[in-house]
Amino acid sequence: MTTPHTIAVLGLGRMGRALATRLAAQNRDVVGWTRSGRASGAVRTTSDPGEAVAKADLVLLALFDGPACRQVLDDIRGALRADAIVVNTSTVSPAEASALARRLGPSYVHAPLLGSVPAAATGALQILAAARQDALDRVRPVLETLGTVRPVDDASTAAALKLVANSSLAGAVLSLRDSLRQADALGLPRAQVLDVLELGRLGGLVAHKRTFLTGRPVAATAEFTIGALAKDMALLAAASDTPLGSAARLADTPAGPEADIALAATVPAVEDAVLEPLRAYIRGHATGDPGHFRDAFLPTAHVEGIRDGAFVSWPLDEYCALFSGRPAPDEPIRSRRIDTVDVHGTVATATMTLAHGADHFTDTFLLVRVGDSWRIANKAYHRHS
Ligand SMILES: NC(=O)c1ccc[n+]([C@@H]2O[C@H](COP(=O)([O-])OP(=O)(O)OC[C@H]3O[C@@H](n4cnc5c(N)ncnc54)[C@H](OP(=O)(O)O)[C@@H]3O)[C@@H](O)[C@H]2O)c1
Repeated sequence: MTTPHTIAVLGLGRMGRALATRLAAQNRDVVGWTRSGRASGAVRTTSDPGEAVAKADLVLLALFDGPACRQVLDDIRGALRADAIVVNTSTVSPAEASALARRLGPSYVHAPLLGSVPAAATGALQILAAARQDALDRVRPVLETLGTVRPVDDASTAAALKLVANSSLAGAVLSLRDSLRQADALGLPRAQVLDVLELGRLGGLVAHKRTFLTGRPVAATAEFTIGALAKDMALLAAASDTPLGSAARLADTPAGPEADIALAATVPAVEDAVLEPLRAYIRGHATGDPGHFRDAFLPTAHVEGIRDGAFVSWPLDEYCALFSGRPAPDEPIRSRRIDTVDVHGTVATATMTLAHGADHFTDTFLLVRVGDSWRIANKAYHRHS
């Protein structure tokens, strides 16, 4: 068994650059290639991927996604040495990882990475490595200069574990978004809020990403982009065939796909316009005045649910007729709150909880933006027993 001497790094984006730099700093002979031709600074580069891999006994892929991996492997097909090992650190779907493992056979190591650019720079990554034992033994000394190797049974499992790990990161970013929105709504100073959040469960994320979270324009370059994390969540939701809210919530982030993931936590709360019909709806219940419901709903709206065991679908007029124009006698102890609002361009969904005496309702709304204003297109409700 010989340890690889010459390493070709294909893809010199954020991670590829950091990996190539680290390997070169550990006295490996590194040559880099990237599609855009961008120079990497610390390592020798070539504009021809075939030339990059021609002498390499280890080819390390750090590419955006599965299609990029397929494309680059097609491009180097004739140039790859017969004894070269391909180590793929890109985050791809389980099915894509399996297909790549089948395509390259015993010379393939699927090695998705836990950790970002700073961990790559200091050799502190966690590497989920799936390969045949002999291939893994050959590349292990190289991988150990990048971090800790955690063997996994097969490429598909390694890819799936990586996506699940990133779903917790996406969840943390979106949870931080919720906290910052609530703090903003309360008028709390951002610096003080970040100080306190640093003490809690999201402390590591807040401490590491603090420069992105101040609310002021950011000069720092992204370490891990919203686009890459949104890609991962879309891959996870598709692979599991199980709904995953973070996929759409990240994809819709106004900061844009090239921004650092931390900026997804700084997106302001939804615009007031989309809340207006929901607030009119709340006023309708609070006052008993059906005029507020007419402001809230489109005239074509229906209110639907199960009432006394039977499905009801009331047109708006019929729904309005249920209200007397006066508040309910127990109005002082009733409460209502808006739980979620998700805007997707000209449509939105929302949920609300209503505590009306002994009755608790979950209302779900479909909203549409018509011109400059939003209206409720339909409501469905559940009465909790
Ligand atoms: N950044 C992180 O913290 C991090 C951590 C763990 C895992 N990852 C994963 O590691 C991979 C690389 O991430 P990154 O942050 O380095 O992404 P990145 O900065 O966007 O770089 C992506 C790389 O892929 C190349 N590429 C994209 N599409 C291509 C195509 N069709 N053909 C050939 N090359 C293509 C780009 O080439 P050009 O730019 O030269 O065109 C660039 O070199 C991704 O799978 C990501 O999910 C990232």
